[in-house]
Amino acid sequence: MAVGACVSATGTKKVYPGKTTPFVLITCLIAASSGLIFGYDVGISGGVTSMESFLSKFFPLVYRKMVVADKNANPYCKFDSQLLTSFTSSLYLAALITSLSASNFTRALGRKKSMLIGGIIFLLGSLLNGAAQNVAMLIIGRILLGVGVAFACQAAPLYLSEMAPVHLRGMLNMGFQLMITFGILCANLINYATSKLTSNWSWRISLALAAVPAMIITLGSLFLPDSPNSLMARGHDDKARKMLQKIRGIPNVDEEFKDLVAASDELKMVQHAWSNVIKRKYRPQLVMAVLLPALQQLTGINVIMFYAPVLFKTIGFGSNGSLISAVIIGLVNMFSTLVSIFTVDKIGRRSLYLEGGPQMFICQIIAGTLIAINFGSSEEEANMSKLYAWFLLAFVCIYVAGFAWSWGPLTILVASEIFPLEIRTAAQSIFISVSMFFTFIVAQAFLQMLCHFKFGLFYFFGGWVMIGTVFVYLFLPETKNIPIEKMVLVWKDHWFWSKFVADDHVHKEQDSVNEMENKRLDSTI
Ligand code: BGC
Repeated sequence: MAVGACVSATGTKKVYPGKTTPFVLITCLIAASSGLIFGYDVGISGGVTSMESFLSKFFPLVYRKMVVADKNANPYCKFDSQLLTSFTSSLYLAALITSLSASNFTRALGRKKSMLIGGIIFLLGSLLNGAAQNVAMLIIGRILLGVGVAFACQAAPLYLSEMAPVHLRGMLNMGFQLMITFGILCANLINYATSKLTSNWSWRISLALAAVPAMIITLGSLFLPDSPNSLMARGHDDKARKMLQKIRGIPNVDEEFKDLVAASDELKMVQHAWSNVIKRKYRPQLVMAVLLPALQQLTGINVIMFYAPVLFKTIGFGSNGSLISAVIIGLVNMFSTLVSIFTVDKIGRRSLYLEGGPQMFICQIIAGTLIAINFGSSEEEANMSKLYAWFLLAFVCIYVAGFAWSWGPLTILVASEIFPLEIRTAAQSIFISVSMFFTFIVAQAFLQMLCHFKFGLFYFFGGWVMIGTVFVYLFLPETKNIPIEKMVLVWKDHWFWSKFVADDHVHKEQDSVNEMENKRLDSTI
């Protein structure tokens, strides 16, 4: 019998028996496909906004600046239009607002229904976008997509962490991020294929195909069971135990069930996740819920993910070359995420963060410098040699790889495992809202920043990557192999956070870990 073995923060071994059942693997795969809809959006907008047919129909001013080459225009500024960026960013603004209330649905209806609602609204948005006749239809479609993304992104990572056996939690949870990267890659490939079409069909097909991932999550979520934690939180204790037996594949799930009951009792005593989350004892989780997603977005990853085709066009690549570059970046992003998936439960979260950050920083400095050397802040059209351009692309790819095995998957993973049940839905809402807020800012401000900062944009985000790395080094404890219900112990052992975690709480946790350990030893003797 396989067991989920976990080492507590204090070094005590804790064991939940159980198998890794096909049932749990399949449900996790379906839930992770919520990431597809998010990824598809991230990847599709940059390619579409660099398509001439799209620009001439909806953004004629930008089109004129770009195509009817104004010889005096600064190349860094040729795409600079607030209306154009609002096409990309409106989705994230809608997601930001929705995610604040989506947590109430997730708590009251369960994770499964949130994913279903997300899928349906997203489907409507993709149809509206594909049929768009004017900018208003485009933006309303993007807003619906944002609402859908918020529901799905709120519920899926929680669901994954709650269903996964503890020793595979990192790996299964990261399936969500893997699906995001797969969605981005699909979008890049579709943009590349449709850009060959000359008519309006190119952007229409690219936008309407978002309906495919929407159908996957909508239909998939109909078949998903509710997680034991979510059933228990809504008062269905018997169903929760049965579900636990089913997903662990054994009849005796007493130990894990007992921890679930304890966490759920605590939840019943304190009903208000939003007022709990601001209590002093949850300060570490609150700080992480805000700073991790903010710092993740400030790595500048979405400058590349949203605008790689626009960026590469700006610095002198042809249309084809720009879209191919986006596909290459998409491939690197997806395959590098696999590195994290297969190592995170062995080498831990911190080592991946602390390797990925400096790698990204170095590449950003090199990429910024390469652009600066080639055409600095020149007002003239860029003329980059092919070799030079490929060299630049290589550093962008190494930067993306660093993100894809550190800040990308780990941020979502850590957030899904550090929030105790009594604050989980509120903290997850804060996490998603902050993430969407900074995604919105980057999406909205990038073209203007490029116009003003020029190559310095890479240095700007590089500086943030270093700040993020120092933050992780000093403040993020290792959460590898710690059961979610026992996570409080990692804060207690931390040089800084220990002062925020009340001692009685910690002692209670410690006693129960010791008690379980003694029982286990008794039964093995
Ligand atoms: C981030 C997205 C980003 C993606 C890139 C995710 O973790 O939240 O904003 O586009 O990674 O793979």
